[in-house]
Amino acid sequence: MTKYLITSALPYVNGVKHLGNLAGSLLPADIHARFRRQTGHEVLFLCGTDEHGTPVELAARAEGIPVSDYCARQHAVQADIYRCFGLSFDHFSRTSGATNRLLTQKIFQRLDAAGHIEARTIRQAYSPTDARFLPDRYIVGTCPYCGSTNARGDQCESCTRVLDPENLLSPRSAISGAADIEFRETRHLFLKLSDFDRKLRRWIETHPEWPLLVRSIALKWLDEGLRDRCITRDLTWGVPVPRPGFEDKVFYVWFDAPIGYIAAALEWSEAAPERDWRAWWESGDDIRYVQFLAKDNVPFHTISFPATILGSGLPLKLPDTIKGFNWLTFDGGKFSTSGQHGIFTDTALTLLPADTWRWWLAANAPESADTDFTVERFVDGVNKDLADTFGNLVNRCLVFAVATFGATVPDSGETGSTEHKLAADLGACLRRLRGHHEALALRKAAEEVRVVWRLANAYFTKAAPWSVVKYDRDQAAAIVRTGINLVRVAALAAWPFIPTASAEVLRSLGEDVQVVPWVEDGERALASIPAGRSFRVPSLLFRKISTADVTPIVACRPPA
Ligand code: 2FM
Ligand code: ZN
Repeated sequence: MTKYLITSALPYVNGVKHLGNLAGSLLPADIHARFRRQTGHEVLFLCGTDEHGTPVELAARAEGIPVSDYCARQHAVQADIYRCFGLSFDHFSRTSGATNRLLTQKIFQRLDAAGHIEARTIRQAYSPTDARFLPDRYIVGTCPYCGSTNARGDQCESCTRVLDPENLLSPRSAISGAADIEFRETRHLFLKLSDFDRKLRRWIETHPEWPLLVRSIALKWLDEGLRDRCITRDLTWGVPVPRPGFEDKVFYVWFDAPIGYIAAALEWSEAAPERDWRAWWESGDDIRYVQFLAKDNVPFHTISFPATILGSGLPLKLPDTIKGFNWLTFDGGKFSTSGQHGIFTDTALTLLPADTWRWWLAANAPESADTDFTVERFVDGVNKDLADTFGNLVNRCLVFAVATFGATVPDSGETGSTEHKLAADLGACLRRLRGHHEALALRKAAEEVRVVWRLANAYFTKAAPWSVVKYDRDQAAAIVRTGINLVRVAALAAWPFIPTASAEVLRSLGEDVQVVPWVEDGERALASIPAGRSFRVPSLLFRKISTADVTPIVACRPPA
């Protein structure tokens, strides 16, 4: 049976992430991992915090604490939030750990030995006041395109243009504010991406099934011609460069971050003797590697990281599928960690159950276009789907069953043609649901879950056991038995999306939630819970919410 290696883009360790980060990689990866486990596949689901780069250093500096302390604290904060969101990582790693450091250095040395690294002299911003070079975000200034006065050396957040520090007008140091910026010559190492042009193109062309978003970004990069990339920086926080003459430099964050996926597997492997990371990263067709990430990460995952792997000559897997996402916007604008605009994952958890957020974000995933989050759409969507449809099904069915027959599944009566038709419809629906999960079509999968819930509600309404019981108690018992089984199927179909609520429903029906099974045979599914089994009505799953439940959190916060 195929095994699934699944990774979500590694969130930067600085600051608590917003709902856009959750929607654009972490959550879809978790839903897919859960689906694959549910269908009996072996899964290795990896993630971690991306702990290098200038934004992380600047955040630690703003707090006046060592970067390593800052990272350790913020890693723990994020890990805890993701646990509360039900993200079922097999391991949640850190790119600043020793495993990633050693692996990054080894991969670099192999690239160097194979001739894919070249030393070049470049001009870099230098501040005599700070007595240091100012790479990437250490230099700020006025954007030459839109006039924003807070543009960074690598990019302008206002107009999103990628910048060269030398383009900035009135450049100044982000550390001291000093304006005495000079451009000095310094030696850096470049990864010769041009060496991999043909191989990468062939690789991408063999995957016509990838989402258009991913393929088009990757092919655009190739069509524009690959430019060699500077992979070193004049910083102290990062993976040290193991090459004479470059001892005072570290690798660029995007060089070591994706290697963190492999390091995460190594750490996972080291934690128990029966685990073998090579069986995941060095295997062939029995492993499918699926990556989840937002669109700004596509070039790194389709070009520079694959080039790094190919050039290293190590027998490591390239992804089989890359699922890229568009943006989740917030009231028509950008969610932004640096600008603290939007809803943040920690605050979200304090107001509503994780499943409420999970459901809406998955059902409205920014797959083929950006999704705009508005409080009204969110409230309306979760009330309709979770309170009125799923919650209502569970409640009306089980409350009626207990009131009429007591808290055990009744055994009298026979099911008939209505139930056979229901079983056939249910089976077809569950098969479509599997197809959508396999195609990584999140919105379609959520819609199919809604269809299961609606089928179940429609059956119960039409069968009307509250009327039937007045003249045929046995027939009403058969309807209730079918209804209880429908509740189980409704929870199983929803489990990858809303695992906490689904598990609560399954537990209330006396089901084992350690291994949540997949169901597809409608007849068998409707006869799964035997007569005589005791059950209970679960506590309220989803209360109706109003905009007032969400509005207080829609506020700007001071920068992390
Ligand atoms: O864009 C980001 O949030 C990056 N931290 C993603 C890194 S993914 C991987 F390559 F590590
Ligand atoms: Zn701009």
